[in-house]
Amino acid sequence: MRIALILGTRPEIVKCSPIIRECKRLGLYFFILHTGQHYSYLMDKVFFEQLELPPAKFNLDVGSGNHGKQTGAMLQGIEKILQSECPDVVLVQGDTNTVLAGAIAAVKLWIKVGHVEAGLRSYDRRMPEEINRILADHCSDYLFAPTSKSKEILLHEGIPEKQIFMVGNTAVDAVYQNLEIAKSKNQILVELGINPGKFMLATSHRQENVDNKESFAGIIKGLQLVQKEFGIPLIYPIHPRARKQLELFNIETEGLTLVEPLDYLSFLNLESKAMLVLSDSGGVQEETCILGVPCVTLRENTERPETLDVGSNMLAGTSSERILEAAKIMVGREKGWVNPFGDGKTAQKIISILLKK
Ligand code: UD1
Ligand code: UDP
Repeated sequence: MRIALILGTRPEIVKCSPIIRECKRLGLYFFILHTGQHYSYLMDKVFFEQLELPPAKFNLDVGSGNHGKQTGAMLQGIEKILQSECPDVVLVQGDTNTVLAGAIAAVKLWIKVGHVEAGLRSYDRRMPEEINRILADHCSDYLFAPTSKSKEILLHEGIPEKQIFMVGNTAVDAVYQNLEIAKSKNQILVELGINPGKFMLATSHRQENVDNKESFAGIIKGLQLVQKEFGIPLIYPIHPRARKQLELFNIETEGLTLVEPLDYLSFLNLESKAMLVLSDSGGVQEETCILGVPCVTLRENTERPETLDVGSNMLAGTSSERILEAAKIMVGREKGWVNPFGDGKTAQKIISILLKK
């Protein structure tokens, strides 16, 4: 079995890492094809180094650009490599442009496609991620759904049951594999001058939020209100897209502690010790739920409704007052929820399903 793992962005590197480790453990033939969608050291290489992943065999260096240009360049490059490498299966993870390009390039070459994290839906077509995940699901042969909800969604859309495998989310594997080491990475707390339980953490980078002046200003204002109300540091490791937009819109961030994007272990450490996390990230909604830390989601919808069901998360949108209200509610919330995303053996399950085929 020849496995091609196609990835390109920060969350894909994190969530593919357990699959890569499993392939290595079993001595399987696999290679990594990196599209180069993310390329800055702090968005890319730092994760390979820290998670001790083998380097990508191929890097397309596609870089940034509009959706059509970026996805088109990936398609061309991926097709060429798949034609020469002839893998038996291509694995893609999540909902980025890299996932869309990887899935389409492979299916048209009659190579089997496995979509890890299949069946998520926000039902919000303004999000590029929603388009990517629907299309990737519908050209995949193996749909690795994290929960029974995502499996139901796929069945509802007419995907044959024999192609759907409910395996949990590799985010849990990654958290379980790295949390102990992460918790000892206390340098970041020292550097920021913060104490466990006495700070908040925020991230925001989604296109529909930060590329819209009103939405992004609402989020920043909301974070400032929360910081003022609780009187503790609010740390915001800022994604390069958000940094660029903040400067473009000339939005003031007084009161917030903006830092460069963090490495995974430092970020996981902060997430696990934060009083509250506020974010529009998909992965962060899952990780906070897994870690038992309350989350306020800076969006009107989520493709991770399991987090709302168990009570780890609350939707606040981008209005500053609603963000403050949600923060007050979530800080006071009982934290004993059960993680709905699996037992941390998702990667093992995925590989063993592929090996049986
Ligand atoms: C992408 C994904 C999004 C995911 C996010 C993870 C799509 C459509 N979006 O969004 O789903 O949540 O990754 O972080 O695939 N930039 C850099 N250095 C980098 C990468 C990006 O400076 O290494 C800057 C560039 O100015 C670029 C912008 O960030 O134009 C956006 O990058 P892009 O990869 O297009 O989208 P993300 O917002 O990162
Ligand atoms: N993350 C990180 N450093 C940061 C912010 C996030 O290591 O400064 C990790 C986080 O732990 C999670 C992943 O990046 O595993 C989430 O990626 P992101 O929010 O960029 O994308 P999304 O999940 O929204 O697609």
